[in-house]
Amino acid sequence: MAHSDRPDMAIAKVYRGTFMHSTQQTAVQVLEDALLGVDTDGKIAFIRRGEELGALSQTFGFSPSDVTQLAKHEFFMPGLVDTHIHACQYSYVGTALDMPLLQWLDTYTFPVESQFKDLQFAERVYSQVVSRTLRNGTTTACYFASIHTDASLLLGKIANDFGQRALVGKVCMDTNNSVKHYKETNQESQDETCRFIAELLKRKYPLVRPVVTPRFALSCTGALLGQLGEIAKKDNLHIQSHISENLEEVKIVKALFPESESYTDVYLKHNLLTDKTVMAHGCHLSDKELDLFKEKGASLSHCPNSNISLCSGLLNVRNVLKHQVKLGLGTDVAGGYSASMLDAVRRTRDTSKVLNIQNPEHETLTFEEVFRLATLGGSQALSLDDKTGNFEVGKDFDALRVNVAAPGGPMDWIQSEKPKITLEKFLNLGDDRNIAEVYVAGRKVVPFKE
Ligand code: GUN
Ligand code: FE
Repeated sequence: MAHSDRPDMAIAKVYRGTFMHSTQQTAVQVLEDALLGVDTDGKIAFIRRGEELGALSQTFGFSPSDVTQLAKHEFFMPGLVDTHIHACQYSYVGTALDMPLLQWLDTYTFPVESQFKDLQFAERVYSQVVSRTLRNGTTTACYFASIHTDASLLLGKIANDFGQRALVGKVCMDTNNSVKHYKETNQESQDETCRFIAELLKRKYPLVRPVVTPRFALSCTGALLGQLGEIAKKDNLHIQSHISENLEEVKIVKALFPESESYTDVYLKHNLLTDKTVMAHGCHLSDKELDLFKEKGASLSHCPNSNISLCSGLLNVRNVLKHQVKLGLGTDVAGGYSASMLDAVRRTRDTSKVLNIQNPEHETLTFEEVFRLATLGGSQALSLDDKTGNFEVGKDFDALRVNVAAPGGPMDWIQSEKPKITLEKFLNLGDDRNIAEVYVAGRKVVPFKE
């Protein structure tokens, strides 16, 4: 501590034990017998060595007996960041994976999403998806809702009530929909987007923000894309959509927007490619398009379960990283059949290994790299890395308390194992039974309060 005076922040909690997180330089940094203090605003006040307890307790004014000590078979890691999930599609997760994207949307997705006009149904499903993802360690989620403004606001309320950090998007679509009653006029889409943003901001939920959400270029007229780009620009808002997921989609986008050089150029021309944009998939982007992402600071959400389940393609994450494009992982429920980010971690490695089988020169992603993508990478992809993603002092304490020896759990703890090996095992074998506690901005949100 550089200054000898007591800092003016008050310490709410101190934890001692093993912490593992990522930094820009190190994919997995292991801090054994560390002390982490959380202030009354839920921010990380210090992360230091255990032997500094005496000095820290004096500097920060807490009693050493108040420190929460982790067991040997426990560790803290940053919360998982799901950069792409459709909250309303949770109602049919784990089913309907027998068609390619465009047919899947018409057959299953649009009819289901149209039911979210019913606020009671929305409340039930949205409570389920928020609680399920939180229990599985998703401390931050970037949600697509449906076209319905009131139900989308309800999703924001539910995320806030459970204490999950969330970006919430009311979906916009004014063209090309086979389901007649699941479409907006251009004017409705603009007006309702503005109403959604204004109303959500007015509620001042501390961890929930709106995100401008054109579904994808095939669901929106050029006019609507441009108007949404303007709306986002005016208030410097987040933007999310889909890009280059499946080859048929790419072909139709090219035919519908002949004046654009590429799919990426369609979004660029409409002011939708910014440093607060996250685009899902990107399996079929060219190197030139990745350069545009890099230049604009836009990011990609890699959704490997969905890419495989809908036979969309295999994203070459190594190539995306070589282009220095920000990238996070997403479940893409229900194109992806699991709402757990641990599944996204595993499918990311599988995809990388399939690419290696196809081309032995392809350098597979290490588990350390994938851990970083699921945490710090996700926070960067959502431009929330000033608040979350790792255990840097000043960030919010978004964390999972992992117990690899949970009774009845899916894995066995081997006593002599090094922490990094334990982390690797948890990522490959663990599930929500191992996630003993979840913290968002310092608040314990799992186990749920009765
Ligand atoms: N492209 C446009 N809408 C969707 C959707 O709901 N899911 C997926 N995976 N891709 C899309
Ligand atoms: Fe999606």
